[in-house]
Amino acid sequence: MDELRGKYIEAIAGAADEAALEELRLAAVGKKGEVSLKMRELGKMSPEERQVAGPALNALKDEINTALTARKVALADAALDERLKTEWLDVTLPSRPRRQGTIHPVSQVTEEVTAIFADMGFAVAEGPQIETDWYNFDALNIPGHHPARAEMDTFYMARGEGDNRPPHVLRTHTSPVQIRSMEAGGAPTRIICPGRVYRADYDQTHTPMFHQVEGLAIDRDISMANLKWVLEEFFTAYFGTNVKTRFRASHFPFTEPSAEVDIQCSFEGGTVKVGEGDDWLEVLGSGMVHPDVLRAGKIDPDEWQGFAFGMGIDRIAMLKYGIPDLRAFFESDLRWLRHYGFAALDVPTLHAGVSR
Ligand code: DAH
Repeated sequence: MDELRGKYIEAIAGAADEAALEELRLAAVGKKGEVSLKMRELGKMSPEERQVAGPALNALKDEINTALTARKVALADAALDERLKTEWLDVTLPSRPRRQGTIHPVSQVTEEVTAIFADMGFAVAEGPQIETDWYNFDALNIPGHHPARAEMDTFYMARGEGDNRPPHVLRTHTSPVQIRSMEAGGAPTRIICPGRVYRADYDQTHTPMFHQVEGLAIDRDISMANLKWVLEEFFTAYFGTNVKTRFRASHFPFTEPSAEVDIQCSFEGGTVKVGEGDDWLEVLGSGMVHPDVLRAGKIDPDEWQGFAFGMGIDRIAMLKYGIPDLRAFFESDLRWLRHYGFAALDVPTLHAGVSR
């Protein structure tokens, strides 16, 4: 027994890893281990011999098991120490320099537009990008057969099989938000709604997703003159220079009368300069809100009237910042974003930049 003890206790203390430990466990106290075999011999002993040998063997078995556990713990501790030595981290080292992201021109211009209209008392309204055809078309006086529906290259959402309701659409303009804000707030009201709109169209000046800002002002005595003043104030603040506007008679189902609005510009030397020259550039559609549209928004046209307009945000961003191709706006090319992007702290305010 002393021999067994000497052999195993020493070997366990020197075991290099868990596999060696397991081998020793099997050899000593496993089913066919040396100690276990010795225990089996107890049956053949005389009762006197067994009284001495039994407890001694049990004690040896316990001793070996205790030694196995102790070595196991010691090996684990050593492994942990080793890891701690190799996996340390110096938290006092300076960090790697990281490039800061930039604000996308569309976000920047949206902020600028919002700041300018907020100063004229317009609140920001929002609506869903997935619209019912009622909000996107019918409520805006565009019935099912109207050619404007076809002209808009609408994206229709798929309906489940057997579901015969008219499909939802990706809103083709921000005009449905007119109806939603009339319903929600009644009259009088003054809102703008900047946001994403969608049409199935793609070339140098069209992308399937783009941005518009809608404007709506309703009160008892609002006229086209107010519309013209508001837009001229806006363009002058936005472009930082006096900008003349030209109203051309036009047609939209949701306004009567309707006008397309051009801003004064020059095309000299191959670049567009806004606020000078004798050329004109179309930038928005507008008009007096059609009585049917007011009614759809639950507003009484005998009591209230107002103007509305819709303008392309990407368009006026290109004009102000000299960006030639619309498609690049949405390609997420880092070089483009770094070149045309804005610093995060360059927040547009009326007192610092966009002036009136
Ligand atoms: N919704 C029109 C479009 O996307 C733009 C527009 C024209 C909006 C006239 C208006 C408006 O509010 O009065 O083409």
